[in-house]
Amino acid sequence: MLCEAKYIDNQKTLISRMRISTEMAKAINDQISYEASSATTYIAIGSWCERIGYDGSAAFFFEQAAEENGHMLKLIHYLNGVGAEAIIPAIEKPPSSFESLESTFQFGLKSEQTVTKAIYDLVDMTEKEKDRSTYSFLQWFVNEQIEEETLFHTILQKFDLLGKDKLAVYQIDQSLTSVRSQVMSKQGASRQV
Ligand code: FEO
Repeated sequence: MLCEAKYIDNQKTLISRMRISTEMAKAINDQISYEASSATTYIAIGSWCERIGYDGSAAFFFEQAAEENGHMLKLIHYLNGVGAEAIIPAIEKPPSSFESLESTFQFGLKSEQTVTKAIYDLVDMTEKEKDRSTYSFLQWFVNEQIEEETLFHTILQKFDLLGKDKLAVYQIDQSLTSVRSQVMSKQGASRQV
């Protein structure tokens, strides 16, 4: 009983130290779940690619998973830094097999579009609450999502341009490292303009 009272006191102290609203903390925690789920899904896709022999795509998705993990950590550090509690979520088991290599990138694009919408909803919320610090923190994610969607669009375009026969798919698989660096350098340059 004493422990419970102490826990409630601690929670009250934590909330009184928070520099963002409880609703904002909850919404950012939801975003942590999306990022964690994306990371796990990309690992599952990478693992499928590795099994099938799409080595370029496996490396691509494992790197993508590491990026999502980085996004999740950024959100965790932010919440903890503003005196809120970052909640580490349990994640549902992702799919373990896919129809084709192209379908994995379609899956990735859809997932990125969902994350982008969630980020925009968060930004809308900061504007409503006049929460300047979270607004400013989220701008990095807004730019990151543009880059990620562009990356998946560019890869899917390659399937339209080169075709979907075995040789074309092999060429796409092998080109992914250079596609990533091309998209990143283009986006980086446009951010500096
Ligand atoms: Fe962190 Fe790709 O969304």
